[in-house]
This record gives sequence, structure tokens and C-alpha cells, in this order.
Amino acid sequence: MTTLHLGSKTWVTLNTHRVTHEIIVKRGSITNGRSAYPIASDIVSHSGRSLVLPTAQWSEKRRVMHHLLSGSALKKYGEFQEIESTQMLAEYIFKPKEWYRNHYRYANSVIHRIALGERFIMSAQNLANTQRIVAEFTRSIGASIIDWFPALSRLPRFMQPWRGYWEKVGQFHLDVYRSWWDPVKKQIDDGTAPPSFARDGLLSPNAKFSGDDQEAMYVTLQLIEAGSDTTREVLNCFVMAALCYPNKFQRLRDEIDKVCGSNAERLPVLADLENIPYVHAYAKELLRWRPIFISTPDHMLTEDLEFEGYLFPAGTCFAINEIAVSYECESPTEFIPERWLDGKEMDITHGLWQFGGGRRICVGYKLGQRSLFLNIARLAYCFDYHATGPYNSKHMNYEKTGEPFPVMPTIRSEAHRELILREAKDAGVLEEAQLEYESIPDWVPEY
Ligand code: HEM
Repeated sequence: MTTLHLGSKTWVTLNTHRVTHEIIVKRGSITNGRSAYPIASDIVSHSGRSLVLPTAQWSEKRRVMHHLLSGSALKKYGEFQEIESTQMLAEYIFKPKEWYRNHYRYANSVIHRIALGERFIMSAQNLANTQRIVAEFTRSIGASIIDWFPALSRLPRFMQPWRGYWEKVGQFHLDVYRSWWDPVKKQIDDGTAPPSFARDGLLSPNAKFSGDDQEAMYVTLQLIEAGSDTTREVLNCFVMAALCYPNKFQRLRDEIDKVCGSNAERLPVLADLENIPYVHAYAKELLRWRPIFISTPDHMLTEDLEFEGYLFPAGTCFAINEIAVSYECESPTEFIPERWLDGKEMDITHGLWQFGGGRRICVGYKLGQRSLFLNIARLAYCFDYHATGPYNSKHMNYEKTGEPFPVMPTIRSEAHRELILREAKDAGVLEEAQLEYESIPDWVPEY
């Protein structure tokens, strides 16, 4: 453990699996708080994003999200995941150069459909707004000195010159959210809305959600932010690993071939979840090898704690040091999926802290795991990857060029092409897969 004094907050980073388990899991009932984030939560998120809410405001939102994202609800979404994934494979055929946008469209569309009941209309503006909101929100966490000295937010308003900027950021997020939410809400009120989390999980009288309309909107739409960016980043890392470790990629393909046939007999499906353990091990190793989170958000202690001779006062913030715990293994810099073949590979949170832990653990991890399984299996089954220029396996350069690194996917065989096109036609997504993406407008913060 390492203690850091950050403004008026005390952070203790957890640097090994052992202490993470002790503090975050075993003592989860007193380490599930969040410290105050006057900027990222109160202003930018209008106190609506559960990720940065203290326990009292968080628990009700967590209850409804948990209900939506576990048990039988997950099975219902399997159909959406398979259709969107089939479209993604077809997009790989028609738009191979835009492989990373195909990942993003998949991830966004699945969660959009679950949350709001409709497929995501990937207009360039919509996409740019989504990316902008995700980037601004994540960067706002801790970006302002005020979040490290929360007491400053209680100064008289005229002594808070920083507010204006962050209020504009928050207003932009609210306006975009409203533009997605209001039409869906209207359909729900008219009784014409398709099934969705918004309709059935929040606004129906049976859901008994105690929040108001704006809170329901934030709970629903933060899912889209949280669920899409993460999933597509792991898929991008999958492509990187395919370039760096061709032997592991070949083993992955061999394992899938054993179940689906090496001559494009059929696509992998979610019903194969229990049949191809290597795919789960591969997904876990991707998250370990190139963690997409370098730290979890803080888990704030809600009462004093004595642990192995150390006294932590209430208010101490624990955060998992994801790099340190991910690299606490043999040959940590090497990509070795076999290390996860321990009979527990199907539990993506076992021995892996990329989804956080304890009571704040990622509420969407099961959905995320299913997406990773399905798409990793299908991409490895159907496509080869070739670098088209120099790349650095530790660097995703997407902010400059749009493409994370230079690569071109190619179809494995004519039989695989036919399989994908046939499946896409049957799923009714063939035409949509051929549509060109609009170019993404550059966004320059106007605040
Ligand atoms: C590879 C995929 C993903 C990773 C690595 C990931 C990781 C995380 C992490 C580290 C947290 C914070 C946990 C903590 O505080 O201890 C979190 C929270 C959250 N995640 Fe995920 N996530 C992923 C996919 C998803 C998906 C697919 C969804 C939505 C369906 C989702 C929705 C959320 C939400 C709503 C929260 C906040 C939960 C709360 O406030 O209780 N995530 N995620």
C-alpha cells in the first residue's frame, strides 16, 4: 500500500492482489463510499452519474442497474449482441480500414438498444457527441483542484471563478442527454415505446425507482458512456495482441475451430460460452496485459479501520493500482492467456481487478464479458490482421489520426466471407453494414 496526500484527500493505493482483496472485497461493507467530487459529479454530472456519487445517493441507482444487468435480463440481450456482432463482421468486410469504428459502432449500438430500446443512429454528430462526453467526463474526474479540496466549493459563488467553465461542460452533457432521452420518454408516455431499460427498468410503476425524471435519464445514459468505450477499447487491444503474438492468435483460432469447424461451418454464438475456455482466458489476458484502467475510482472508507497494524480514519480513499496488480505475476510483460486456464476462466473478475471490486464493482461486467467472448471468438474465427506500418504495442495513437495503429484486417477464406454475408442477410443488417461512415467532425471545446 502507498499513501498519497492529494489536496485534502488521503488516497491509499492498493498494489497487490492480497491487500486489494482484504480491503475492497472482505471489508466491502465499509469501503464502498466515494469521496466528494464537486466538479465531476455535482456540476458536470448534475449529481446524476452513479460512478461518482456517495453511497446515500448511489444505492438506489445501483439497485435498478443491477437488476437490469444480471440474471435472466442478460439472456434477453444476447440476441441484440449477436445481431450487432454479425453486422460488425459484415462491416469488417465492407469497411476493413475502419475496423476500429466497427468496434465502436458495435459497442455503442448494443448498449443503446438495451438502455433506450432503439438501435443507435450513428450520425457523425451523434458519434462525436458521445466521444466528447465520455472524454470530458473522464477527464473531469480529478482534473480540477476543487475536487481535491472539496471544501472550496462551499465558498460564496463570486469567489468560485472556475464554476462558469464547468457549468458549460455540464450543460452541454445535459443538452445531449436530453436530445436522446426526450423522444424516448415521449414514446414511453404515449405507450408506443419498445421494451428497454428506460421503459421497463426505470419508468414503469413496477420498477419502483424513487428518482425523478432527470435521475432516470442519467442512470440510463451513463450506461451508454460506461459500456461502449470500455468494450471497444478491449477489442482494439485484441487487434494489437493479434499483431504481437501470432502464435497465441493461432491457438485461439484452433480452439474455436474445434467447436465451429475450420471451414466456416458456423459462427461462434453465445451458446458456446461454456465450450471455449481459451476465449475467456484470452479476454482476461487482454485486460491484464493492457489494462484499460490504470486505477479504479476511489473507494472511500465510511468508518475507522484498523488493518494489520495500520489505522485508517473514516474518509480514507482506497484505489486499486491496476498496473501493479496486473503485473504481479510471472513474465508480466508477456501475453500468455494460458495463465488463466485454472478452471475459473469463465469468471472474468476472478484474479482480475479491471472491473473494480467489492460493492462498487462494474455493474455491467457480465454484459461486457459476453460481448468480449462473442466478438473475440468471431473475429479470430473469420479475420487475419496485418500491420500496414510501424506500431508500438504500448501506444494507441487514436487521438491524432482516428486509427489506433496501422493495421488491415483480411478475411480468412472465401467460405468465411460467404458465411458472414449469409448471416448478415438473415439478420437483416447486410445493407446497413455497407453504409459509409460519415466523417467525424473535429471538436474543439467552445466553453
Ligand atoms: C471491458 C469492459 C469494462 C470494464 C473494464 C469496466 C470497468 C469498470 C470499472 C473499473 C468501474 C468502477 C468500479 C469500482 O469503482 O470499483 C466500472 C463501473 C461501472 N461500469 Fe463498467 N466496465 C466495463 C464494461 C461495462 C459495461 C458493458 C457497462 C454497461 C452495461 C458498464 C457500466 C458501468 C457502470 C454503470 C458503472 C458504475 C457502477 C456504479 O456506480 O455502481 N461497464 N466499470
